Amino acid sequence: MTVQRVLTGITTSGTPHLGNYVGAVRPTVRASRLANTENYYFLADYHALIKVGDPARVQRSTLEIAATWLACGLDPDKVFFYRQSDIPEIPELTWLLTCVTGKGLLNRAHAYKAAVDKNTAAGQEPDDGVSAGLFMYPVLMAADILMFNAHHVPVGRDQIQHIEMARDMAASFNHLYGEHFTPPQAVIEAHVATLPGLDGRKMSKSYDNTIPLFAPTEQLRKLIMGIVTDSRAPGEPKDTEGSALFQIFQAFATPEETADLAQAYAAGIAWGEAKERLYQRLEQEIAPMRTVYEELMRHPEHIEATLQRGAAKARGIATPFTARLRHAVGLRALSAGAAAQADTAPAKVAAPQFKQYREKDGLFYFKLTTAKGEVLLQSAAYTQPRDAAQTMQQLVLGALPWSALPQTGQLGAAADIDAALLQIRQARGD
Ligand code: TRP
Repeated sequence: MTVQRVLTGITTSGTPHLGNYVGAVRPTVRASRLANTENYYFLADYHALIKVGDPARVQRSTLEIAATWLACGLDPDKVFFYRQSDIPEIPELTWLLTCVTGKGLLNRAHAYKAAVDKNTAAGQEPDDGVSAGLFMYPVLMAADILMFNAHHVPVGRDQIQHIEMARDMAASFNHLYGEHFTPPQAVIEAHVATLPGLDGRKMSKSYDNTIPLFAPTEQLRKLIMGIVTDSRAPGEPKDTEGSALFQIFQAFATPEETADLAQAYAAGIAWGEAKERLYQRLEQEIAPMRTVYEELMRHPEHIEATLQRGAAKARGIATPFTARLRHAVGLRALSAGAAAQADTAPAKVAAPQFKQYREKDGLFYFKLTTAKGEVLLQSAAYTQPRDAAQTMQQLVLGALPWSALPQTGQLGAAADIDAALLQIRQARGD
């Protein structure tokens, strides 16, 4: 079985809360233990600069998120665990991708469009308060993903469009410069719960309704006591449906424990007691990790060292890959001649090609296929093999337009045929 590369990042703009834990940290730590996967987990601190203008907060959040991942059981020796800004190849790749990305594609990004719509509704200039960083966000994210040729990217639903854009950028780059990038796929964990916050809406920093994952135990208890409930008195049966308290409990408890609480709801448990149960259940899972977290937070230098090791490991891939990409786009040492061309060989293997063959009818044919073997053009029959060969030659040189072939069997899109012919011509050095 081939190794699947899984990559995801967390923007270092806040303090991890229970929703992040249930929705992102816990599933990724579990996934990192699966066989046949190579995992890349990183702290997206360049992304944080897009929304946070407070240096101390970026630094603090980076520390907290790194400590959280480690305290929750991520083994930095088994995965690639690094900080985005320790990999200078990422901003470099961002630029290479920027140059093959249509501005129109970025105009369509949901986050950018939402900002424009808001301005328009408020009677402001469309781009009021929109930084070029916000506009470029999807390109930076594509660089994160494509740098390591990740197959799968676990993300929330709001990020699906960004993964699709990364696929577009990969395709544009490959089209121009040869097969360098693997198109990534978003992975949405359907069974992972979206946690409600203190007020019953989705737990999110922007609603200010979060419960920090590693709040000290007393504060955790106080916050839980503040979760909204309805006004039913002790003894009155309560609804599990729509109960934030119940949903949070469920995200941490076994099915049996959840069934028990549902029964207690039906039997009219007092809200205060239900909250106490939730607190106890959370504490059971969180307390051991909190001890590790607090120890880690006392030693930022250990975390720094771990991240530095992770960066070295990640750059073991990023540095040579970037060298290959630089060469592919023509950022080359001027002395690089035949020797440098040798390392484009892997790209050539995956090039489109012409194939000539003889059929059972005794006649000669050729076809043009993509790197993957899909047939783009299918010739008519030739009685002489040399005529078939000459026609192919003329097609490659552009001396004969493929559309002028006698009875062309056009099977692929015109743009694909043109691109394939161009690629063959370039590979020949014509
Ligand atoms: N944009 C992601 C978020 O806010 C974070 C992120 C940055 C990311 N780069 C990434 C996620 C690459 C997955 C892959 O959630």
